[in-house]
Amino acid sequence: MMSPILDVSHLGIDFGGLQALDDFNIQVDAKEIVGLIGPNGAGKTTVFNLLTNVYKPSRGSISLTGQDTRGKSIHAVTQSGIARTFQNIRLFRDLSVIDNVKIALHNGMKYTMAEAILRLPRYWKQEKESTATALKLLDVFNMAHLANEPAGSLPYGSQRRLEIARALATNPRVLLLDEPAAGMNPSETQELMDTIHHIRDMFDIAIILIEHDMSLVMGICERILVLNYGLIIAQGTPEEVRNNPVVIEAYLGQQRGE
Ligand SMILES: Nc1ncnc2c1ncn2[C@@H]1O[C@H](COP(=O)(O)OP(=O)(O)OP(=O)(O)O)[C@@H](O)[C@H]1O
Ligand SMILES: [Mg+2]
Repeated sequence: MMSPILDVSHLGIDFGGLQALDDFNIQVDAKEIVGLIGPNGAGKTTVFNLLTNVYKPSRGSISLTGQDTRGKSIHAVTQSGIARTFQNIRLFRDLSVIDNVKIALHNGMKYTMAEAILRLPRYWKQEKESTATALKLLDVFNMAHLANEPAGSLPYGSQRRLEIARALATNPRVLLLDEPAAGMNPSETQELMDTIHHIRDMFDIAIILIEHDMSLVMGICERILVLNYGLIIAQGTPEEVRNNPVVIEAYLGQQRGE
């Protein structure tokens, strides 16, 4: 038996009196695609913030590729193999598309600051390599031709895809996508779902996908966890989750309440 790439046990966090997440457990195997759904404020993004050490858990533990992530910096956790995109797009809007990817790649580079300033041969060699790698990554998203455009000038859907390319640039084993299809039209969304499948196979990564829209995750996720008020209220195959009355009630409750 292979051990899971991500192993989360009894994870929880409180904000003042609010239990934003409690008793969250998940094991993710290499190359799995897991959906994380639930109404607004359920705690989905909080899970990602905990997994990437943006938040410190109030309780529970996280093991990533066999290492306990407790006490690691955000940077160190990224280096041990987790990467994410954000619900609100975060790009360097004034920089070119390719520079956005190259900055993310930069973590893995070996030249010293002095070599960079003095433009020594190792710097040029790695610069050339990083340009080539960045272009390859952009090509996966059919964006290589946009390499020199300012990131902020891209249409919304392309900015979302660029964010995923940036996350992949850090060479993760687990990729966290926070509502990657938000703001996309139906055909962009379908294309994105196909791309997510493709990158899973191409890069051998596990993916956790947050989505509001259940129908959207149905086609792509092998299993789905449903959060409501910080608790897992259901999990299973898309089919099981879709027909679970507790889940239906949670979503109807949201419609009634908001
Ligand atoms: N830093 C914080 N300080 C205080 N409360 C927070 C903080 N982060 C999240 N919360 C609260 O925790 C709860 C879960 O928030 P979270 O952003 O994880 O929800 P979500 O499921 O991602 O919702 P949405 O679908 O709207 O993105 C919410 O009540 C939110 O207000
Ligand atoms: Mg969220």
